[in-house]
Amino acid sequence: MTQIENVMREGRVFPPPPEFSARARVKSIEEYQQLYRESLDQPEQFWSRMASELHWFTPWQQVLVWNEPHAQWFVGGKINAAYNCVDRHAEGPNADKAAFLWEGEPGDTRRVTYRELKTEVSKFANVLKGLGLQAGDRVAIYMPLVPELAIAMLACARLGVVHTVIFGGFSAEAIRERVNDARARVVITADGGWRRGAIIPLKANVDDALADGACPSVEKVIVYRRCGNTIGWQEERDLWWHDAIAGVSDDCPAVPLDSEHPLYILYTSGSTGKPKGVLHTTGGYLVGVYLTSKYVFDLREDDIFWCTADIGWVTGHSYVVYGLLANGATNVMYEGAPQHPDFGRWWSIVEKYKVSILYTAPTAIRTFIRQGESWPAKYDLSSLRLLGTVGEPINPEAWIWYHRVIGGGRCPIVDTWWQTETGAIMIASLPGAVPQKPGSAGRPFFGVSPKVVDRDGNPQGPNQGGFLVIDRPWPSMLRTLFGDDERYRAQYWSQIPHVYFTGDGARYDEDGDFWLMGRIDDVVNVSGHRLGTAEVESTLVSHPLVAESAVIGRPDEITGEALVAFVTLKGNVEKSAELRLELIEFVGEQIGKFARPQEIRFTDALPKTRSGKIMRRLLRKVATNDPSLGDTTTLEDISVLARLQEEEE
Ligand code: PRX
Repeated sequence: MTQIENVMREGRVFPPPPEFSARARVKSIEEYQQLYRESLDQPEQFWSRMASELHWFTPWQQVLVWNEPHAQWFVGGKINAAYNCVDRHAEGPNADKAAFLWEGEPGDTRRVTYRELKTEVSKFANVLKGLGLQAGDRVAIYMPLVPELAIAMLACARLGVVHTVIFGGFSAEAIRERVNDARARVVITADGGWRRGAIIPLKANVDDALADGACPSVEKVIVYRRCGNTIGWQEERDLWWHDAIAGVSDDCPAVPLDSEHPLYILYTSGSTGKPKGVLHTTGGYLVGVYLTSKYVFDLREDDIFWCTADIGWVTGHSYVVYGLLANGATNVMYEGAPQHPDFGRWWSIVEKYKVSILYTAPTAIRTFIRQGESWPAKYDLSSLRLLGTVGEPINPEAWIWYHRVIGGGRCPIVDTWWQTETGAIMIASLPGAVPQKPGSAGRPFFGVSPKVVDRDGNPQGPNQGGFLVIDRPWPSMLRTLFGDDERYRAQYWSQIPHVYFTGDGARYDEDGDFWLMGRIDDVVNVSGHRLGTAEVESTLVSHPLVAESAVIGRPDEITGEALVAFVTLKGNVEKSAELRLELIEFVGEQIGKFARPQEIRFTDALPKTRSGKIMRRLLRKVATNDPSLGDTTTLEDISVLARLQEEEE
C-alpha cells in the first residue's frame, strides 16, 4: 500500500525541456491533443495515413472490421513484417547502418548492418523452408540474447511461420508445456548462453523438455553455437545452425501475407494455472509497434536505442525487434546480467555505444539505487536524451533518481503502460509534448481509449480508483488466445461487458493523467516478470510432500513485489528449514528461477471463508506483518485468525 499512498501524494510535474520539444515529433500538448482526437474521431483517416508509412504488397480495403471481441485490421491488405523490418532498410541508403550493436557478456561484440541482417534472415528462412515449414506452422525459439534470436524470428516472419519465443530463464517443464500447446514443429536453441559468468545450459533444457517423446510435434532442433559447451546430440533430430546455413542461398523473397496472418504467440501468466498463448497478427501489430516506437520514443535517424528487456518477453518483441527495426533504427543488445562483472556494466555500455534512448524497468533502477551513485558517476552518460520505463508502477523516488542520476536532469522520462496482450504501448506521455509526473504513466496513445470503471462498468470520476478497461479495439491488440477462444472471451471481454478488461487498477487525475495501481487479479509482478499465483500454487502442490498452498504477492523494495507461499504439508511430514529450501528450489526447477518464492510459510491450515475460498487478503496481511493482526510470525494455525477476520472478507 505504501507505494500507492506515495503515488497519491505525489504532486511534482516536469514539463518537457524546451530544447527537447523544439526538435520533437510532437512539440506541444495541443498538437498531441489534436492527433489524439483525430485518432478517435476519424479513425479511418488517421490509421490509413499512419499505416501507409509501412510497405504493403497490396493495400487494405477496410481499416477495421469489429465483431466483438474479434478485430480485423487493414482487411484485405498484404504485408510482411520481415520485409518492413529488414528489406526496406537493406535496399536503401541505410544498408550499412547498424541494426544491432551487440555486446556479449564476456565482452565479445558484433555490429550487424541492415544489409547483413537481410542476408542472414534470408538464408535462415531458406533453411526453415528446406525443413518443409510453411506459413501457419509454429516454431519455438529458446535462445540467449544474440542477434540470431532476432534473425530466427524474422526468418519465421518472412515465411509466415508463427514463432513462439520462450524466455531463456524458463525450465524444461515450462518449455514442454509451451511447445506442446503451440504444437511446434521445430525448436531453435543454442548450446548455452552467458549469465553472470556462468553458462545457462539451454540445449540441455530443451533435451529434457523433449525427452521420452514428451513433445511429439517436434521434428527438428536447430542449435546455434554460442558457448562451445559440451551438449547431448540426437543425430536424426538435431542440426547445427552453422551447418544448416552453409551453402544456402541468401535469396528468399518475403511472402506477401494477409494482414491478419498470425505473426507470433507469446505465452503469459494469467489468474488460472495454465499460461495463455497470446496471439498477435501481422498488419495491426506492426502498425502499432512502428508508430509507438516513432512517437513515444521520439525516434530519429541517428538515435542509438537500448531496450534492456530480454526478447523472451513482449517488451523485447516490440521494442528490440519489430517496432525499432520497422523504423530502421539502431538497437543495442546486451546478452548478460546488469551486475556482471560489476554494477558499472550498463553504464559502460551507454558510454561505449553512445546510447541516446534507454528503456528499462523500475526494478533495475531500484537495484542501481541501492548500489549508489558512484557506479554511474564513473561513466559518460551525456549521450542520453530520453529515458523510458516499463513493466510495473515506478515509485516517485526511483523516478527522481533515474531523472537526476542517469538522465543528468535533462532527459524526459516516458513511463509506458502496456501488456503482452496490448502488443504496443497504450499509455505514455509523449516526451516533447506532455508534462511528466513521477509515478504516472500519463496520457493515452493515439487510438487508445482507456476508461476507469467500477465492477458494473460505471465510469469513475477523476481520482476515484477503479478497474482499467479499454472500450475500443486498437490495431496491435491480441486477436485471441491460441487454441482457446473461449478463454479469450471469458478473460478479457466478459468480466465487464463490451470492454477489454486489463486486470489492472487505476485512477486518472484532473489533467487526464493515468496512475496505475497494480493488478487486481491473482497476477503478481516480480521484477517486471508477470507470474500467476495459481501457476506457482499448482507447482507447489505437485510436490509429493505438499497438501495445499496459497501464494500471494507482497510489496518489495527492489523487485516491486515478491512471492510468499503458504504451504500445508501432507500427513505427518515434518516442517524443516531444509524442506523450505527444497520447495523454493522445486519451483525454480519447475517454472524458472525468477518464479522462486521469497518466503515459504508452513501452516497447519489455510484460512478459508465458509464457502471454501482462500482468504488472500488475510494472507497478504500476515505476509506483511500487518500491525492490525498483532504478531503473526510464529502463528501456525492461521485459521484461527480467519475466524476472527471472516466478517471482513
Ligand atoms: O500490471 C501492469 C504492469 O505489467 C502488466 C503487464 O505485464 P506483461 O504482460 O508482462 O507486460 C510487461 C511489459 C509491457 C500490466 O498489466 N505494467 C506494465 N507497465 C506498467 C505496468 N504497471 C504500471 N506502470 C507501467 N508503466
